[in-house]
Amino acid sequence: MPFDLNILLVGCGKMGQAMLQGWLERKVENRIYILDPAGLPPEFVDYAPNPVSWYENVAALAAQEPKIDVIVMAVKPQIMADACAALKPLAGANTPLLSIAAGQSIAVFETYFGAGHPVIRAMPNTPSSIGQGVSVCVANPHVTPEQKEQATRLLEAVGHVEWIKDETLMDAVTALSGSGPAYVFLLIEALAGAGEKAGLSRDLAMTLARRTVIGAGALAAHMPDSAASTLRENVTSPGGTTAAALDVLMRDQNGLQSLMDEAVAAAKQRSIDLSGT
Ligand SMILES: NC(=O)c1ccc[n+]([C@@H]2O[C@H](COP(=O)([O-])OP(=O)(O)OC[C@H]3O[C@@H](n4cnc5c(N)ncnc54)[C@H](OP(=O)(O)O)[C@@H]3O)[C@@H](O)[C@H]2O)c1
Repeated sequence: MPFDLNILLVGCGKMGQAMLQGWLERKVENRIYILDPAGLPPEFVDYAPNPVSWYENVAALAAQEPKIDVIVMAVKPQIMADACAALKPLAGANTPLLSIAAGQSIAVFETYFGAGHPVIRAMPNTPSSIGQGVSVCVANPHVTPEQKEQATRLLEAVGHVEWIKDETLMDAVTALSGSGPAYVFLLIEALAGAGEKAGLSRDLAMTLARRTVIGAGALAAHMPDSAASTLRENVTSPGGTTAAALDVLMRDQNGLQSLMDEAVAAAKQRSIDLSGT
C-alpha cells in the first residue's frame, strides 16, 4: 500500500536510526526531516538531500517551511521538555505526535502541545534496534484511525506492534516487554552457569545456552499458532530428562512462575514510581 508521509524525526540516536533504517527499507516515507544536534549518521548521508534532510536545530528546520504529517519523538526523556518547547511553533494543531520515550505519559505531551493535540505514546523494547522489537501503543482520543494506522506502519519498521486502550497498563507493558529482554539475557547467564556446574567448560556452556535461547525463540517465531505450553510439551517426554528439570522449574511455591510474578510486579511498581502515575 502506498505510504507517503512527511515525517519529522526528533532525535536520531539508537532508536531513531533503527526506525529511520526501517522506514527507508520499507519506503514508507515521502520526506524525512531529521532534527538532531549530533548530525546525520554517516550511513544515511547517501539518502540526503532526498528523501532525508538533516537539521541541527528547530530554527534551521523552520526556515525550510517543512510540511510535516507526523512528528516522531525519539530523544531521551530528560531532554523531552526542552525539545517539545522548541518544537511547539512547528507542530500544527492536528499533526500527530508519536513518542517512544520511556515513562513519558500522554498528559506530559498534552501539557507541552495543548490538551486537544493528537498524541500517541509507544513503548518499544531494545530488540527494536535490529528490527526485532515489540512496541505497545496507546493514543489519546484526538488521534484518528488513519493516524493510528500511520503510527502502526512507522513502528512496524522496528518490529511487531500492539495497541492498548488503557494507558495505565503501560507500567505492566514496561515490566514485561520493556524490561523483558534483560530477563532472557539472565536466563542465558543462569543456564550457562548451571551448565558449568554440571561439568561443561565456561565457553561451551555459554555457547550452548546462547544458541539454545536463540533457537527456541526462532522455533516459537516459526510456529506462531502453537501455544508456548505446546512447544514445551513437544520437547518433554514423560519421565525423561526435560521432565526432570521442569519438575523443579514448575514447582508451585518457588518455581519459575512465582519468581517471574514477583519480578514483573517489582518492575511494574518501579515504573509506577518513576513515572509518578
Ligand atoms: N534504546 C532503546 O532500546 C529504547 C527502547 C525503548 C524506548 N527507548 C526510548 O527512545 C528514546 C531514544 O533513546 P535512544 O536509546 O535512541 O537514545 P540516544 O541514542 O541517546 O539518542 C537520542 C538522540 O537525540 C539527540 N538529541 C539530544 N537533544 C536533542 C534535541 N533537543 N533535539 C533533537 N535531538 C536531540 C541526541 O544527540 P546527543 O547524543 O548529541 O545528545 C541523540 O542523537 C528514549 O526516550 C528512550 O526512552 C529506547
